[in-house]
Amino acid sequence: MSQAYLCGPALPRAMRIPAIVLNFKTYSEALGKKGWDLATRFASVADDTGASIVLCPPTGDLAHVAKLVHIPVSPPEALLEAGAAGTLINHSERKVAWEEMAKSIPRCQELGLEVVACADDISEAETLAKLSPEYIAIEPPELIGGEVSVTTAKPEVISRAVDRIHAVNPKVVVLCGAGVRTRKDVARALELGTSGVLLATGVVKAKDPEGALRNLIKGLPSGAPRPARSR
Ligand code: G3P
Repeated sequence: MSQAYLCGPALPRAMRIPAIVLNFKTYSEALGKKGWDLATRFASVADDTGASIVLCPPTGDLAHVAKLVHIPVSPPEALLEAGAAGTLINHSERKVAWEEMAKSIPRCQELGLEVVACADDISEAETLAKLSPEYIAIEPPELIGGEVSVTTAKPEVISRAVDRIHAVNPKVVVLCGAGVRTRKDVARALELGTSGVLLATGVVKAKDPEGALRNLIKGLPSGAPRPARSR
């Protein structure tokens, strides 16, 4: 199974980097109307700041959120119809068989959907790079939802993953996630060679999700984000 994402502002159907990718998962704080409200507020933050914010709402809310935020959001054809920019695949909580990924990554790309493929470890990241997804997000599963960011707990995993992925396929853009919560975590992720972060808990479950997102954006360098890849 895969999950769609939306990009914003103003550049439909493509992620810009550096990026903050927010996965709503199926957290109760982000389901239905609560999720629509959050998406609207996050889109305003993207507009205010110019930062590249990418939203991954629950699949059932995709079309509604896409309309609300005026920015681009699985079978792939249905995602595209709903306004998706891309899709998140092989999350550690929804692993996908290799054969399915080998079919679905090129299929999504043919349709114009970008693919963020998640990897649990360096070895999986290296293998995934051979399938040429636009992005690989390295996320050690044991740190997902935790208090300690991967950038603090396992910085070497990130920097080695970046090197190994780029040795296989230099075009793949690397993200990292698991436990990311602060602007320092974002800044460290970029120092380690990534082009952004993928996170959920630190924003969706925060007392003040909009404030948490604004704090994270402060970890990004000044200046407008740039297109991640030329098609
Ligand atoms: O999909 C993002 C998620 O796995 C990252 O986890 O720790 O931010 O909830 P966390």
